[in-house]
Amino acid sequence: MNGRAEWNAQRAQAIIDGNRHLRGALLPILHALQEEFGCIDEAAVPMLARSMNLSRADVHGVISFYHDFRRERPGRHTIKVCRAEACQASGCDSLIGHIERSLGVEMHGTTDDGAFTLEPVFCLGNCALGPAAMIDGDLHGRVTPARFDALVAETLASENPQ
Ligand code: FES
Repeated sequence: MNGRAEWNAQRAQAIIDGNRHLRGALLPILHALQEEFGCIDEAAVPMLARSMNLSRADVHGVISFYHDFRRERPGRHTIKVCRAEACQASGCDSLIGHIERSLGVEMHGTTDDGAFTLEPVFCLGNCALGPAAMIDGDLHGRVTPARFDALVAETLASENPQ
């Protein structure tokens, strides 16, 4: 699920303090911050460095090494498209081309209207039913361009139920 809370330094410090006793605490803390706020706010970096006795460069290095961590708030909906081998064999590249053209956004990007963030993943565990995609945590198989367009329309329609 996308974190929706606005950035809040006190809340962020509580998350850091609540997890920093863990072994290898930086990664779980980063995941928890992203879960709460939807991204790793720049303001979290000095807080993490101070709390964990690291340099800011160390913290930045870890954030940029792992592609899971976002620096900006995501769109209202997250679309993950599988790029792993089985889905490649069933045509995910042309599906991705369609998605990027139809949404007007590239992988890792967010549409201008803030509706969708597009992310690649490597296997959704649905290999027999590729190409596979996940929208807001719901898994879809055999996603054709037409089916993708229908899923996007359904997702938008669900924002304003009649
Ligand atoms: S390879 Fe795409 S779901 Fe496994």
